[in-house]
Amino acid sequence: MSSTSYTQDELKALVGQAALQYVVPGEIVGVGTGSTVNKFIDALATMRDQIPGAVSSSEASTVRLKALGIPVLDANEVSSLSVYIDGADEIDGQGHMVKGGGAALTREKIVAALSKRFVCIADESKKVAVLGKFPLPVEVIPMAAQQIIRQFAALGGQGSIRQKDGQPLVTDNGQYIVDVLGLQITDPLAFESQVNQWPGVVTVGVFAHQKAAVCLLGTPRGVETLT
Ligand code: 5RP
Repeated sequence: MSSTSYTQDELKALVGQAALQYVVPGEIVGVGTGSTVNKFIDALATMRDQIPGAVSSSEASTVRLKALGIPVLDANEVSSLSVYIDGADEIDGQGHMVKGGGAALTREKIVAALSKRFVCIADESKKVAVLGKFPLPVEVIPMAAQQIIRQFAALGGQGSIRQKDGQPLVTDNGQYIVDVLGLQITDPLAFESQVNQWPGVVTVGVFAHQKAAVCLLGTPRGVETLT
């Protein structure tokens, strides 16, 4: 197959557009967060008359959806979604992901859990053999942050509280993010279960229990579909 030199932005637009084929006309769609999802939201505007609306995973995506005339429903108003479309910071060959680079991981995991199928949209740079090179985001209750950093240190990870404008970043849920470097997550399911047990962890950014069923990967050869 021939290859084209796409910019990273163009690859994001390609996969955002390709994700439209997974949106079920007449059904509410789950929408993630990030620069790749922003391309999907822009493309989704062309289908706005065919869907009742979206459940959003962040304030930022909600603003963008509404600006494009797509109604946003509260997650409590739906019992199930056919599909959730979201990006990732890393994805392995089994569909396990690291997410949370945009600090939206808790709501992302909630909407993913409501959804029958997670469709991940990403450019090729996100594909990895083993999760852990990207600093793992973990949303934490602020008073537990230092204890959680010590627990990661015992696993060989170096954690730090994410900053914004010289202050700890505060998530849409009023919590902090700890980013952890230096992990090699060889068993994502077990790792996610383990960290979920630690007091003060709101959400760990390993998505193994809510892994992607499909990944639309933007490559120089075009969009590749990994299942
Ligand atoms: C936000 C996320 C994003 O999906 C992830 O950070 C990828 O973002 P982008 O498409 O901008 O690279 O998990 O919390």
